[in-house]
Amino acid sequence: MDYKRMPIEIESPEQLGYSNVKYNLTESSVSDALLGDLSVNLGTLKLAYGDHRGKAELRQLLAKDFPGIESDKILITAGAASALFIVATALLEKTDHLIVIHPNYASNIETPRAIGCKTDYVNLRFEDGFTFSAADIAKKIRPNTKLISLTSPHNPTGTVLDRKTLLEIADLAEQNSCFVLLDETYRDLNVHADLPGACLHKRIISVSSVSKAFGLPGLRIGWLVTQDEQLTEKFLAAKEQIFVCNSIIDEEVAYKFLLDKASRFQKISEHIEKNRKVLLSWLRSESRMEMIQPAGGVVCFPRVINGEQKNMKEFYRILNDEHKTFVAPGHWFEMPDHYMRIGFGWPAEQELKTGLQNISLALNNT
Ligand SMILES: Cc1ncc(COP(=O)(O)O)c(C=O)c1O
Repeated sequence: MDYKRMPIEIESPEQLGYSNVKYNLTESSVSDALLGDLSVNLGTLKLAYGDHRGKAELRQLLAKDFPGIESDKILITAGAASALFIVATALLEKTDHLIVIHPNYASNIETPRAIGCKTDYVNLRFEDGFTFSAADIAKKIRPNTKLISLTSPHNPTGTVLDRKTLLEIADLAEQNSCFVLLDETYRDLNVHADLPGACLHKRIISVSSVSKAFGLPGLRIGWLVTQDEQLTEKFLAAKEQIFVCNSIIDEEVAYKFLLDKASRFQKISEHIEKNRKVLLSWLRSESRMEMIQPAGGVVCFPRVINGEQKNMKEFYRILNDEHKTFVAPGHWFEMPDHYMRIGFGWPAEQELKTGLQNISLALNNT
């Protein structure tokens, strides 16, 4: 494996130091939760190894969101990130072929790259509303295609794949004896969410976590689900070889949080809706930017109009150094820097307002 650090990690606020960031529009999750607000008593928790598949009660709770799938087909992982790593390393070798959407959450591209497998990208274009069809995937299938890697709701664009297209792609996977990885880490942030992909088709592998929708990224709890028993065993073997079991503290806290998921999410969704209005109102007044409206998640991926001709290096210098405002620049997603991901679910309302105004101020001098 040829590991390389990714700009999205090297330049992330937690690595730069939060003290340098006053207006943080880089985050793709909702505001971080406080442990003290969760009223979890961990005093009687025995710090033994946990169930290798993950805490049984947590899996049973999650299974309610996966009708038709038993809880032993759900593996708890260290965030969605480790689930994605397990899927890529369990299914792909150098001689295999992958089809992956571009741009994407960086690991969905970088881990297969580190494995060294052959890769074809389905490039999303602003002009097409960042959408693609099953025919776009079909064109790229080869005899050695092992995995089709999709993300919905999508990071960084916020687009959502419809059930018909997803099932057409899953059928393609079945006809070609390969699998579909559906990274649905933002699924709980989509009010119109369909069933998780693993319920819809036996060729779909679902990955998600508590990080984004519930503001719990520090817990490192995610899940990996497929109907396929052999695949589950293989994924479990990978999990055991990497970390045996999860932190049982993380599992306990996530379980207690999810027991009360609906009422906790009520407050979160009110905050998101307020901030979404702030974002849309700013965009209506900012004629130098254009955007495809996100359908799910709490990020969008607007671009500066005619940005190829603008000095974007200077834009980011002014934005970061003079206004202490940070967004996720295009290059975090291997895209030109006149694209930027704006996270609107994490900041407080006033922080978002000022951060967006600062983008306008930085554009004045670009
Ligand atoms: C699409 C996508 N998948 C997975 C992850 C990893 O999330 P987690 O914190 O659950 O590991 C992220 C994080 O940004 C993401 O955007």
